[in-house]
Amino acid sequence: MSIIEEINTLKKEKNAVILAHYYVSPEVQEIADYIGDSFYLSKVAVGLKEQTIVFCGVSFMGESAKILNPQKTVLMPDVAADCAMAHMADKESIEKVREAYDDVAVVCYINSTAELKEYCDVCVTSANALKIVKALPNKNIYFIPDRNLAHFVADHVPEKNFIFNEGYCPIHENIRVDEIKEAKEMHPNALVLAHPECSLKVRELSDFLGSTSQIIEYATKSEVQEFIICTENGVRYELERQNPEKKFYFPKTEPICHDMKTVTLEKILNVLKTYDNEMIVTKERIENSKKPLEKMLEYAK
Ligand code: 13P
Ligand code: SF4
Repeated sequence: MSIIEEINTLKKEKNAVILAHYYVSPEVQEIADYIGDSFYLSKVAVGLKEQTIVFCGVSFMGESAKILNPQKTVLMPDVAADCAMAHMADKESIEKVREAYDDVAVVCYINSTAELKEYCDVCVTSANALKIVKALPNKNIYFIPDRNLAHFVADHVPEKNFIFNEGYCPIHENIRVDEIKEAKEMHPNALVLAHPECSLKVRELSDFLGSTSQIIEYATKSEVQEFIICTENGVRYELERQNPEKKFYFPKTEPICHDMKTVTLEKILNVLKTYDNEMIVTKERIENSKKPLEKMLEYAK
C-alpha cells in the first residue's frame, strides 16, 4: 500500500478529516480534504461531521480549530510547527492600551496564540480584517500582533484611530523590493500580487493586496496572464492547478515558511496511527479565547 492509500484508509477507519493551509507542501495539499486560507479553514472547522481533525498548518491554526470545536480531537502532524508572529504581542501592552483609551477594541489577527486571544475583543484574518474593523462600533483600534496588516487596514479606514503593535511575519517582511523590481524588469506584463503582511515598500509596489485565497481568486479571474507573487511559495500549487495556462513568478529569494513545510505525509500517517500530538487547550482558555473567534465568524457573515 502506498503512503497515500494508508492515510486514506486510516482516515476512514478513524473518522478523520484533513485540513491544510495553502503554505504547506504540494504533496500535503494534494491529499487534504479542505485547503484554504486561515479564514476559510476556521469556518470549515466548525460543523465538520468527522470526530478527528488533522490540521496541516501551524499551532495557532490547530488551537483555533480546537477552541471552536472543543469536543473534537485535533491532531498536529508536527507539534513544533509554530508561527513566530503569533507570539509578538503581550497581555501587559493590551492592559496599558485599555487603560489609556476608553472606546477601544483590541483586534487580534488570528495569527496569535490562544493565550493572547483571551485578552482581545475580536479576531480577524487578512481576508476579513477590513470588513470587521469598519463594522466595529469603536473609534480606537489596537491591532495585534501584525504591524503590516494593521497599517494596511488603517490606510483603508481613515475614520478610526489605530494604535499599532510591532509584530511582523519574518517571511513576508523579508520579501525584497529589489527582487520584485528585478522580476518586473524580466516580466514587464506581470502584475504584482502581494499579501498585506508584506512591508510598506512591497505593498506600495503592488497592483493588488489580499489574503492567500484573495490572491488566488484575483489571478484566476484576471485577463492578465503573468503574475509576480509576493507571499509564501506554497500558493504556487493552487495558482497553477486553477490556472495551468498562466505564469507565476516569485521574488528570487522565494518566501518559504519552514514551519509550514515541516508537515509531511509521513507525519500525517504517524498521527493517524498513534494519535500523538493532540492539541490540548484548557477549558478555561477555551472559554476565554472562543469569544473573539466566534465574534469574527459572526461579523464576517
Ligand atoms: P492567510 O491564509 O489568511 O492569507 O494568512 C497568511 C498566513 O500567513 C498564514 O499563516
Ligand atoms: Fe506565521 Fe508568517 Fe509562517 Fe504565516 S508565513 S505561519 S504568518 S511565520
